[in-house]
Order: sequence, then C-alpha cells, then structure tokens
Amino acid sequence: AAASSSADSTLTPDFLPNQPFVIGVSGGTASGKTTVCDMIIQQLHDHRVVLVNQDSFYRGLNPEELERVHEYNFDHPDAFDTEQLLECTMKLISGQGVHVPIYDFKKHQRSSDSFRQVNASDVIILEGILVFHDQRVRDLMNMKIFVDTDADVRLARRIRRDTMERGRDINSVLEQYAKFVKPAFDDFVLPSKKYADVIIPRGGDNHVAIDLIVQHIRTKLGQHDLCKIYPNAYVIQSTFQI
Ligand code: ADP
Ligand code: C5P
Repeated sequence: AAASSSADSTLTPDFLPNQPFVIGVSGGTASGKTTVCDMIIQQLHDHRVVLVNQDSFYRGLNPEELERVHEYNFDHPDAFDTEQLLECTMKLISGQGVHVPIYDFKKHQRSSDSFRQVNASDVIILEGILVFHDQRVRDLMNMKIFVDTDADVRLARRIRRDTMERGRDINSVLEQYAKFVKPAFDDFVLPSKKYADVIIPRGGDNHVAIDLIVQHIRTKLGQHDLCKIYPNAYVIQSTFQI
C-alpha cells in the first residue's frame, strides 16, 4: 500500500518497510513537547532515533525586523521556513543525512557557520508548535502526538524558561504572550489538534501515555524487522489487519 492518497488529510500513511517511522509531536509553547520526545528517545535507546525541532527552521530576522523585534510574530506559520523543513524531512526519510540549522533564541538568528549533522535513522521525530499546520509535512508522519497541557501551566513554564534561558525580561514575555503567543495558539495550534492520533494530557508527567506510545513504536519497528526476514510477512499482516 502506498502512502495515503485520500483527500481526507487526517489519514495517517502506512508505515512502509525500509522507511523510517516518522512521529510528529505538537502542542502549545512549553507544553512539554521536548520533554516527551526526550522520554521517548530514552526508552528507544536500542534504536536509531533522531529529533528534528521545527524551531531550527525559524527564519532569521533582517536588521529592520530585529529593530522592531517586539512587533514580530514568532507564532505565525510564516515565521518558519517550512519548505526547508519539508526538504530535510524527505531527505531523512529517503535515507540521506542532513544539515539542520542551529537557531539562537537570544539573537533571533540562525548560526551562519555551523549546522547540526543528522544521520539517517529508524525513527524520525518532528517536534514543534506548528508541525501539523502544513499538510505536506503532516502527510509524512506515521503517528501524530499532541501534548495537551493547561495554558496557565504553560505560561508559568514559559516565563521561567524565557527569563532564565532565552534572555528575556518578564514584561516582554507577558506582552509577547498576550499579543502573539495566545492568539496564534487559538488560531493555528489548537485547530491542528484534530489531526493528532494520540493526545497526551500533562505531557512528561504522563508516564502511562509515553509507555503506550513507545510500545506501539516498538511493535511497528518489530513488524519491519520481521519483513526483512520474511518479505511476504507485510502482505499477510496487511490482509489480516482489517
Ligand atoms: P516545549 O518543548 O513544549 O516548549 P519543554 O519540554 O521544553 O516544552 O518544557 C518547557 C519548560 O517546562 C522547560 O523548562 C522544562 O524543563 C519544563 N517542564 C517540562 N515538563 C515539565 C514537567 N512535567 N514538570 C515541570 N517542568 C516541566
Ligand atoms: O519551545 P517552544 O515550542 O515554546 O518554542 C516556540 C516558541 O518560541 C513560540 O511560541 C515563539 O513565541 C517563541 N520564540 C521566541 N523568539 C524567537 C523564536 C521563537 O520567543 N526568536
């Protein structure tokens, strides 16, 4: 079976032998996406897993935009170079290694001289607030996870993180949250929750959900290993899956 060709964009494509298993992890800012990804990666230590952050594909700001950075909307889909994210993901799926940009949240720029080398893997995780927004990116995912954490908890974590790690002061965090982050969550992030296969309440605190997800990934990867030994196993298994 080929990847889903249906007009229904919520369908998840079949996981084909000899291709990596692609997982999308979305959710609001500071919902615990990275934490959930790290926990999945830790539990899958015996497989080759790579994490690709949508944040790495933020467009760098030009001098005029930098001067008026408080008016820049980092939560709008146009803030990302989605074409580049798509190209990178497709290369990884086809088994090629890629150079992922390194983004600096303090300078609002990408590093001009260094990249992160990411090699081909068994599992690719795409993580970011808007990874379900573009249908072409969404359609590459075999499993979509939405991390669902209350907005007050997310705001509290964001204040702590942005003031301690991203060089912001509390007033600018609160202003940005009210002006851009919250409205964009309502307009773009929350509506993309409908594409999720799995919704994880409370993020990294939810060990049961993470164990279940890891079990599912292991089952899928195990089926592929079986296909490598018995090439017909895929056909037999597909027939009986109904
Ligand atoms: P996201 O990737 O969605 O922005 P992170 O996983 O980076 O979220 O978490 C955002 C902040 O909240 C980080 O500083 C992290 O340490 C903290 N955090 C994440 N999950 C928890 C949790 N379950 N309990 C307490 N703090 C958490
Ligand atoms: O890690 P997290 O998912 O929270 O990262 C996305 C958030 O980073 C967005 O909500 C956006 O407001 C913020 N951001 C920022 N400054 C940048 C780039 C992104 O505050 N230069």
